[in-house]
Amino acid sequence: IKRIGVLTSGGDAPGMNAAVRAVVRACIYYDIEVFGVYKGYDGLINANIKQLYVRSVSNILSRGGTFLLTARSEEFRTKEGREKAYENFKKFDLDALVVIGGDGSFTGANIFSQEFDVPVIGIPGTIDNDLAGTDFTIGFDTACNTAREAIDKIRDTASSHERLFFVEVMGRDAGFIAVNSAIGGGAVAMVVPEHNWTIDALIKRLRKGAANKKASNVVVIAEGCQLGNAYEVADAVKKELGYFDIRVTVLGHLQRGGSPTTMDRVLASRLGVAAVEGLRHGESKVMVGMINNEIAYTPIGQAIKTEKRLGAEEFRIAKILSI
Ligand code: F6P
Repeated sequence: IKRIGVLTSGGDAPGMNAAVRAVVRACIYYDIEVFGVYKGYDGLINANIKQLYVRSVSNILSRGGTFLLTARSEEFRTKEGREKAYENFKKFDLDALVVIGGDGSFTGANIFSQEFDVPVIGIPGTIDNDLAGTDFTIGFDTACNTAREAIDKIRDTASSHERLFFVEVMGRDAGFIAVNSAIGGGAVAMVVPEHNWTIDALIKRLRKGAANKKASNVVVIAEGCQLGNAYEVADAVKKELGYFDIRVTVLGHLQRGGSPTTMDRVLASRLGVAAVEGLRHGESKVMVGMINNEIAYTPIGQAIKTEKRLGAEEFRIAKILSI
């Protein structure tokens, strides 16, 4: 392996810069030339590719977003788009590609590497934490901290006014951010896609809290939950529990920004180095992850298809603590 391309793709996540930095510096450490592909797969299609050097990645470790820019490339979903990408892959004489992103980006990486027999390695970068083959994805810890910090602030005003708040968090079809920010923020309940909650069960929980003179009530709603969005859940609850003064906050994209936590920086640094070392040792069509604090390589197809389940333990803990 003499020349590697690196790109970030899909929704950005805090720590992506740290991962790019680690890939670039590990390449240079091992005498491999490294090229930044700008704006995700679109950059490969449009030859938006530049060589990166050790100082190209100075002062980005602490920055959110991705200096390589990112996109959800529609063109890469087409065979013609991927052919153009492969042309540029060859033109720049690349031997392998490192893709930092989530499941959509890895689906593209998997198809590309199979179609053209190109060595590809994925680094999990998404706030959603919805990839198997790693305990945590890069950006998840920062997003949880951001959401939990917001919940702390909402709790202040919720208790002053004795209001019930519904806080909607991101996570696409997964409830990892919801569960972690809810437990960390002491929410009275969390509604997530993985758990079959009903409006009736939620109302029961809130009634019990009210009967126990609960001082503040924050319910965390995962954006992908079956009961609807936070406004719809709030409306349904309001119909039954008219005595609550209810407000809704949707945290939205602020969860995607900000300086990465130490956990995310360290994870990104370890996975970035392991991606380059994996390629050197012949790994391909795999995602590099961290399981029980050890580097693990999982076939990309498996990482995106295997459902990563939320543990029942979290629900048990939340229930015990929300009384
Ligand atoms: O995958 C990351 C994520 O932030 C999800 O949590 C969310 O559903 C989605 O991306 C939002 O996508 P966009 O930035 O395209 O609106």
